[in-house]
Amino acid sequence: MPIWYGGDYNPEQWPRAVWDEDASLMRTAGVNLATVGVFSWSRLEPRDGEFDFEWLDVVLEKLHAAGVRADLATATASPPPWLTLKHPEILPVTASGVRLSTGSRQQYCPSSPLYRRYATRLVTALAERYGSHPALQMWHVNNEYGCHVSRCYCDVSAEAFRGWLRDKYGTVEGLNHAWGTAFWSQHYSSFDEVFPPRDAPTFKNPAQLLDFDRFGSHELLECFRAEAAVLRQVTPDIPLTTNFMGFFKPANYWEWAKELDFVSDDSYPDPADETAYLHSAMTRDLMRSLAGDKPWVLMEQATSAVNWRPQNAAKRPGQMRAWSYQAIAREARGIMYFQWRQSIAGAEQFHSGMLPHSGTDTRVWREVVEFGAELTALSGVLPSTVAAPPVEAAIVLDWESWWALEQPARPTRISYQGQLSAWYRAFTQAGLRVRFVHPGADLSGFRVVVAPTLFLATEASLDNLAGYARDGGTLIVTFQTGIVDENLRVRSGGYLGPLQRTLGLWIEEFTPLAGHPAALAGTVTSSSVTWSEVVRPAGATVESEFTDGPAAGGPAITSNGTAWYVAADLAADGKAALVETILGRLGLDLPRPAPGVERITSQADTYVINHNPLPYVVELDGTDLLTGKPARGLELPQYGVAIVRA
Ligand code: GAL
Repeated sequence: MPIWYGGDYNPEQWPRAVWDEDASLMRTAGVNLATVGVFSWSRLEPRDGEFDFEWLDVVLEKLHAAGVRADLATATASPPPWLTLKHPEILPVTASGVRLSTGSRQQYCPSSPLYRRYATRLVTALAERYGSHPALQMWHVNNEYGCHVSRCYCDVSAEAFRGWLRDKYGTVEGLNHAWGTAFWSQHYSSFDEVFPPRDAPTFKNPAQLLDFDRFGSHELLECFRAEAAVLRQVTPDIPLTTNFMGFFKPANYWEWAKELDFVSDDSYPDPADETAYLHSAMTRDLMRSLAGDKPWVLMEQATSAVNWRPQNAAKRPGQMRAWSYQAIAREARGIMYFQWRQSIAGAEQFHSGMLPHSGTDTRVWREVVEFGAELTALSGVLPSTVAAPPVEAAIVLDWESWWALEQPARPTRISYQGQLSAWYRAFTQAGLRVRFVHPGADLSGFRVVVAPTLFLATEASLDNLAGYARDGGTLIVTFQTGIVDENLRVRSGGYLGPLQRTLGLWIEEFTPLAGHPAALAGTVTSSSVTWSEVVRPAGATVESEFTDGPAAGGPAITSNGTAWYVAADLAADGKAALVETILGRLGLDLPRPAPGVERITSQADTYVINHNPLPYVVELDGTDLLTGKPARGLELPQYGVAIVRA
């Protein structure tokens, strides 16, 4: 299998004369896959039911002749103007009741049966026409579901929400109980009285908000399923995907990933951010976790600057290549861009492309061509199937808990992603290879598991964590875990549910350190923590205490056998110290990566990527697959990469 290389290709933005040049330059660049037609609905179906495939026939023929395969989009991400003019009820409505207009993209209500009907009609026509086209490699279903409109609050959505709630609760009394509607006179006598959580005078019902998030992710997934069902019926042998957006809160990707033939992701870290490579590493590890040890595809990234930040930094020479290898090292077998040719008109005219406005005598183009050649050379060399190496550490990630934790009216404001990143950094800096896992996942293979701020947790999830520790696994549970159940009902009597026994403690009171950080003393110290609480040990050993603040002198970190509790929002030094302490007790002596240098082992190969301004000298034996030279002693400049095969 080749390593896919290419990008979004939007030939409809260009006169036909340009298409031949595109095909020929694609060959020059080593492009072997083009994502075609993502935003082509209005050109494929210019009028209701009238299809115009002639231009796409020509494009696909040209690609085929050039040896470029097609990642053919279903083109449903931006409904054409005639459709929303004819059926304005397809247009989405915000929580404040504003109906969004045409003239941009993604202007559809995910619950609209009309939208889905028109979308699947187009998909059927595309599948029937191109299902056996020799260029067709894969289907690209829609595009970035939920990117702009992840929730719709219109009347159609309200009716769909009611139906979803009826299916879930059976009776309105079931809903009343789950939502705790005795509070603030919210009791419902019938499902007809229920609405999406539209703008309201003050805090909305938390369980209603949570169910609306569940419903919202589900409705987007239903859109995907409707298209996928058509494709699977008409073209059962063609794999399909839809592009994810990393740690994207509105869509529960654990649910989504199961439905794709392979995972793909869009990735736009900020080139100006010195630490962005860490976020990009974490996202790529998430994709590897979601992909279930199948290869995945980096479906979109920028060759250089984007156009949607207040300041759009250009990537520095080599940065795009280094960030791409972060993906390949984590089992991506496709490196794609948005987009092939930089647009001259439209909202993304200043977003970089593989082929820049200024043509081929440019740095970006040269890097694109060189990297394409390199990937072509690697294609036969890198394994095409994934046999993931053993991974030591797991970070529990749960979308439902994310939605619940970041609601308003919580004990404190916590960024869930911030917590995940901080633990990811602490683990990877200690040399641990990390996987993200669902709280219900089999944890038995991991040496250490952290559940950071798993605010909402089912009894089954908590039992799963407890069982892992009971069987000898090293478990780290942090503050604000197991506070509420799946209906957002508080676990009274000290929170944590079954984990109280595992951890040997209960929690008496939260004492957040609003604006007055405290420190920790004991086995593990931490410079500045922003959360404290009153922990009541019931068998646990106190490892560290708060030195100041309302919980001063009380437990901040405890252990109970192999189960650790962290009652503080540890600073980076505190997390690092805790991980070191735990590795010490496990007797796990791992090679530490140098700061700013990634060392990722994938099957037979170890990828070394230097993100530092200063050069780094490789200290591994073997041959560098990129230069053919002995690896040891190779000097990698900033953004330099070596793939060391023993
Ligand atoms: C993605 C999207 C592309 C393009 C790109 C720009 O979100 O899928 O169509 O807009 O961003 O960065």
